[in-house]
Amino acid sequence: MPTQTALPLVIVSHELPPDWLAPLHGRCRLVIGPSTAEFSGLAPRLRPYLPEAAGLFSLLTVQVDESLLDAAPNLRIVSNMAVGVDNVDLAACRRRGIPVGHTPGVLTDSTADLTLALLLSLARHLPQAAADARAGKWTTWLPEGWLGLELNDATLGIVGMGQIGQAVAHRARAFGMRLLYTGPARKPEVEIELAAQHVPLPQLLQQSDVVSLHAPLTPETRNLINMNALEHMKSSAILINMARGPLVDSAALFVALQNGTIAAAGLDVTDPEPLTPTHPLYTLPNCLIVPHIGSATHRARRRMAELACKNLLAGLAGQPLPHQAN
Ligand code: GLV
Repeated sequence: MPTQTALPLVIVSHELPPDWLAPLHGRCRLVIGPSTAEFSGLAPRLRPYLPEAAGLFSLLTVQVDESLLDAAPNLRIVSNMAVGVDNVDLAACRRRGIPVGHTPGVLTDSTADLTLALLLSLARHLPQAAADARAGKWTTWLPEGWLGLELNDATLGIVGMGQIGQAVAHRARAFGMRLLYTGPARKPEVEIELAAQHVPLPQLLQQSDVVSLHAPLTPETRNLINMNALEHMKSSAILINMARGPLVDSAALFVALQNGTIAAAGLDVTDPEPLTPTHPLYTLPNCLIVPHIGSATHRARRRMAELACKNLLAGLAGQPLPHQAN
């Protein structure tokens, strides 16, 4: 057995349930950051450990950029406990020969479930209807009260038909929705299995009753849904963003929701993130915002941690990562 001091030093950016990190015990020395509630980003008290650190276990709120990497010359692995890696400068890691691990697959179902939850909530006005009932506005059965969109035969436009997009597509098919999708590559097997049609983005925006975003944040997808895109959408359309906040221009979305360019938006991610309570989007009754909880099920979060530990240990051992992003 190596002595404790010979074990590689690993920085865990935030406090996590100890059993989530159990695979690391006895394999590395851990310095663990504060709880997520206290701090977002790499805590200043962790920075002195960067020169010695061989591994970094990061959450998506930590910017792993050139300045952090410069301070960590001995880093051998960045293991991000997230499927998205837009918080990590992948090219800078590659230049330094540092593999970057991420956690695809294990959060697909939880994220797809939440997509349908937002979709159904907005299609059937659940937040407003529940608030109205609580406020005493349920005085009788109203033939024309709270009328919404029936999913059967409605069209869902999926932007980004990766694992999560496909899991959403399966669920939407079970509700009888017609499927359009867009993305850089056609997926012939998905088109056959789900009767999904690949179309250019403008056509998807024009024809969809619900547009759901599942693409990674890249220079190509940043601000994809700007005012021009919103103006292509139906005035009855619902926009769902489960991907990353900057895919949508928040200021344009505010205007579009306020003036009826589109009907409603459901946001699991926002720009900026977190959205401060005074942000204008909160003032809109047709905007349903939840705090980036796509993967927030007990099972998904535990499995994300498990996979992040596996990636980390493989990186420390100089072995191929189970899931490498760069
Ligand atoms: C969540 O947004 C993730 O990328 O895992």
